[in-house]
Amino acid sequence: MASIRTPISETSFFARNWSDHLQNSHILSQNLSFSSHGVRSLQFGNVKLSFSRSNTVKNSSQTQSPAEIEWTQISDVPLLSSAEVSSLNSFLLRTSRETYKSKQQYLAMFSSVFGGITTDPAVMVIPLDDHMVHRGHGVFDTAAIMDGYLYELDQHLDRFLRSATMAKIKLPFDRESTRKILIQTVSASKCRIGSLRYWLSAGPGDFQLSPSGCHQSALYAIVIQDQSSSDHSGIKVVTSSVPIKPPQFAVMKSVNYLPNALSKMEAEENDAYAAIWLDDGGLIAEGPNMNVAFVTKEKELVMPSFDKILSGCTAKRVLVLAEGLVRDGKLQGIKVRDVTVEEGKQAEEMMLIGSGVLVRPVVKWDDKVIGSGKEGPVTRDLLNLILEDMKSGPTTVRVPVPY
Ligand SMILES: Cc1ncc(COP(=O)(O)O)c(C=O)c1O
Repeated sequence: MASIRTPISETSFFARNWSDHLQNSHILSQNLSFSSHGVRSLQFGNVKLSFSRSNTVKNSSQTQSPAEIEWTQISDVPLLSSAEVSSLNSFLLRTSRETYKSKQQYLAMFSSVFGGITTDPAVMVIPLDDHMVHRGHGVFDTAAIMDGYLYELDQHLDRFLRSATMAKIKLPFDRESTRKILIQTVSASKCRIGSLRYWLSAGPGDFQLSPSGCHQSALYAIVIQDQSSSDHSGIKVVTSSVPIKPPQFAVMKSVNYLPNALSKMEAEENDAYAAIWLDDGGLIAEGPNMNVAFVTKEKELVMPSFDKILSGCTAKRVLVLAEGLVRDGKLQGIKVRDVTVEEGKQAEEMMLIGSGVLVRPVVKWDDKVIGSGKEGPVTRDLLNLILEDMKSGPTTVRVPVPY
C-alpha cells in the first residue's frame, strides 16, 4: 500500500478521554508512546496512529475542539492478533460512545445473532456479512422512550412488520416475542428518556445478492440516550433536488436511506433543516425523515396522503389529536389529500412532523416566507398536544417499561 494520509475527518470521538482509555488498556498501553509536544502515537507492527490534541483547549470550562488525528504514512498493513483487534475495537467503540458530538450514549443492545442483551458498547456490533450491511436488505423502526414509557410502540411495531413483509423478510420471533425483546432491552438499559431503534435483517450468511444463503433473519435493537436539548424553534426548508424514492420503496421503512441522507445534506448545504420531496406529479410528499402538514387560510389542517410516502406514526397521531382543536374552534377541519407546492407555500402555517422533530414550525420554504414568518398557533398547539400525549396519553400509545 502506498500511503494513507488523513482520511479521518470526523473522528472527533477521540477528543476527550482517549488517552485515559489508551492507558487503561493493557495491550494498547504497551504500544503507546508520548512525545514532548503532546503528540501520542499508537504503534502496531508498521502502522502508527498519531493523535494530537488541539491547542485551542484553554481550560476545563471551555468546550474542547476535536483532537486532530492523522494517519502517518504506512508501508505495510499489519496482521493483528485477535487480542489486538478486540482491544482496539473496544477502545474505539467505547471512546466513540463517550465523546461522540451528538451526545448519544448507547445503553443496551439486543442481537438475535448472539441471542441476548448487552450493555457494553464495546461489543455492540453486527457481522459484516449481514445482508443488511452489504445489500441494504433490512428494515427498521423506532420508538421514543419518555419517562419510562415507550411511546407508540405498537404503532411502530405494526409498521415494522408491514415493512418486513414488503422486504420479504421473515421475523425470527413472533410479534409478541419481538415486542417482549424490545421492552426487555429498554428495561436492561435503565433508560427513561431516549429512543429505541430496531432492525430486521435478511441476516448474516454470505456476500451473495440472494438471501438464500442466510440461515436465519436477524433482529437487532439499541437503546440510545440523547442528552442534546430539544429545539422547537422555527426552521427553513428547501425543495429537494434529490429524487424521491418510488412509492414501492417510499412506503416501507427499509435501511436504504441514501436518498434521505443526501437530501438532508442538500438542506444543510443551503442552511436549511430539511429538504422537501415532491412526488412524480409535483405534489408535496414528505421530508427525509418526517412528514409535512399545513394550516390553510381557511384554518384547515391539510396533510399529503400516505399512498406514496411513509405512513408516519407521529403524523397519524397528530391527525387524531388535532380533532380537539376542531372541537375548540381553533381549526375548521382536517384533511388528508393532495397538496400542491403553490398551496403549501401560501399556507398560514407549515410544520414538519415525525418522531425525531415531533412538531416543528417551518417559517421559510426556499425563498418564500410561510405565513407570518413565525411559529403559528396551531403548530404550537399540536406540539403541546404531542408532548402531553407522550407524558400522559392513553395506554394505547404508552407502554410501561418494567425496570
Ligand atoms: C421518510 C420518512 N417519512 C416520515 C417519517 C416520520 O415517521 P414517524 O412519525 O413514524 O417517525 C420518517 C421517520 O423516520 C421517515 O423516515
